[in-house]
Amino acid sequence: MAHGIIGSYHHSVVAMLAHVLFLTTAVLMLVWLLHYRGGINIRSEDPDQIFNVHPFVMSWGFILLIGEAILAYSTIPMDHRTQKMAHMLIHLVGLILGSFGVYAAFKFHDAVVAPDLVSLHSWLGITAISLFGLQWLFGFVTFWLPGAAHDRTRAAAVPVHVMAGLAIFLLAVCAAQTGLVQKSAGAASTGETKLINVTGVFILLYGVAVVSVVALRKEFL
Ligand code: HEM
Ligand code: HEM
Repeated sequence: MAHGIIGSYHHSVVAMLAHVLFLTTAVLMLVWLLHYRGGINIRSEDPDQIFNVHPFVMSWGFILLIGEAILAYSTIPMDHRTQKMAHMLIHLVGLILGSFGVYAAFKFHDAVVAPDLVSLHSWLGITAISLFGLQWLFGFVTFWLPGAAHDRTRAAAVPVHVMAGLAIFLLAVCAAQTGLVQKSAGAASTGETKLINVTGVFILLYGVAVVSVVALRKEFL
């Protein structure tokens, strides 16, 4: 019992921390793209402005939102079904925005006539978004569609779903890190380099906080 109380206290502190990291990362990303990188515009004539849509949407719409979707079971004080609906819908928005963000990267490559899917970053990124799409479909069929899976199948699928979900989320965090490293090589000043570094550290800390919340939520007694 004592474990349960200590666990739940840690759990809410870490969940709160995750929200703070969420906001800080979102702001850092925006400051970087608007102040140092010349703005965000998918319809621009300037390839750099087209490119900037990519990190903006991938960080806000993919990494940060997926994290919040995972946290829904811990932070939304409602019944399990409502939490599940929020979890499912936020993931759907993440999937749509993530796909749009990847489209922006391809559009940028078209504009500067660069070959596609060459870098480690692009490999990690395309794998992350593809597995994410599959996980969403499996999750939808197994846990959302009424009667599509037996209760026993659902119960057996939960640990696999949680493990796969966390692995995909961490893969997305790695993709973001490698993407930042690539842009860091072309940074215009040490001020910009430092901002990129701090943003990377915050994305990593956010990832660790989200995974920790899931670990602390489980009853280990
Ligand atoms: C989890 C989030 C991310 C995913 C899934 C992702 C995915 C991708 C993909 C698939 C490409 C290849 C496009 C092509 O080959 O035409 C790409 C390109 C690129 N991304 Fe990301 N990205 C993510 C986050 C970021 C972030 C945060 C940055 C930071 C600046 C970034 C920087 C880049 C750069 C510089 C390119 C162009 C060069 C290259 O193809 O490697 N990405 N991204
Ligand atoms: C339609 C889509 C989805 C549905 C219906 C769904 C459903 C569920 C359900 C019912 C649980 C609760 C398991 C329990 O009782 O403990 C859960 C947990 C979880 N899901 Fe999903 N899921 C979906 C998509 C995803 C996606 C795309 C990811 C990540 C890439 C993901 C990651 C997770 C994680 C990490 C947990 C553990 C959360 C925690 O225990 O606090 N899910 N999901």
